[in-house]
Amino acid sequence: MNEIYYWSPGVQFYVKEEELYVERFRYGRQAAQFFPEFYYMAQNGAGTDDLEKRFETDNKSLLKNLIQDFIKKKILVCSVITPKELFHSQTRLFENDYPETIRFVKEELEEFKKEQSGRELVKDGLTYILKDSYYCNDIIYRETVRKFSKKPITYHSFSRILGALQNREDRKGTRYYPSAGGLYPVDVYVLVKPGRVEGVEQGLYYYNPVINGITLVDKGENITDKSQFITNQEIFSGSAFTIYFLYNARCSMPKYSGMGYYYGILDCGIMTGLITRISEEEGIGTCSIGDMLYGKIESCFHLNKSQLFLHSMECGYKDEAESEQPKEK
Ligand SMILES: Cc1cc2nc3c(=O)[nH]c(=O)nc-3n(C[C@H](O)[C@H](O)[C@H](O)COP(=O)(O)O)c2cc1C
Repeated sequence: MNEIYYWSPGVQFYVKEEELYVERFRYGRQAAQFFPEFYYMAQNGAGTDDLEKRFETDNKSLLKNLIQDFIKKKILVCSVITPKELFHSQTRLFENDYPETIRFVKEELEEFKKEQSGRELVKDGLTYILKDSYYCNDIIYRETVRKFSKKPITYHSFSRILGALQNREDRKGTRYYPSAGGLYPVDVYVLVKPGRVEGVEQGLYYYNPVINGITLVDKGENITDKSQFITNQEIFSGSAFTIYFLYNARCSMPKYSGMGYYYGILDCGIMTGLITRISEEEGIGTCSIGDMLYGKIESCFHLNKSQLFLHSMECGYKDEAESEQPKEK
């Protein structure tokens, strides 16, 4: 099948001193001869054959290689792009008046965090101080858990946590969380670590909300801490199971077009909240992981091209020595 490729909406190119640059990659003078026409053509979508035929050149292999490299680097894409690729373009639009150092100098980051969590945008004017801030212990004592005990998770707790995402019997067509249009476009996979969930073998499973069950898709032996950034490797290694959330464009884009993607991300946040809440009830701690090296393990999931990785969560019994949560609730 001749795929139609598009210039990725998150990617910029420029020609400087007759050389072509695409994002941080330098392609040189010869490649520059095809621009900007190549870009205009790819913006509207074109097959690789059409792109190759469009340009008169003695060096056909250069053009062919260029196209293949653009595909490899996801400069040319033939399916919905990942959130990372999509949101990358926003960085340059944001007027950042903070120094780069807040990313890696601990004290500067702490100061930045204090400033953000303590912001009070509007202070003058009619103000009411709200009262009655009492909540159940699961909300009061919830905290992100990064160190887990090695105790295997009971099948009961594991079932209650993932079961929160099932299709309901009592209210057909709905689940225990809201979703735009009732389409539930977020697919869920769970990686069970060896011996860490009672009665469940190690492996990567697809969570099936229709039967409220899990089905093995990969033995998971190649899913290691190398799929995480260094700061999150220990969290991954210690957890009993990892939940992966993937947006499935086929489920909501037919109705909502591009906004379906945005709603899917919102759904994922709501699901994460629900999982966190039920986990607390079961004495299980969770850690959301914002970013990871998902590309390293993608092939284990056997996805179709409309499924995109959004988010993951590490789960396990809290290491009581580390937790501030009281033992008796
Ligand atoms: C979207 C998202 C991404 C996060 N990513 C990470 C992460 O990569 N590593 C980590 O240790 N914690 C991560 N966290 C946890 C936050 O650091 C934590 O929620 C925050 O510091 C507030 O602390 P608390 O959850 O204990 O109240 C993430 C949380 C969210 C919601």
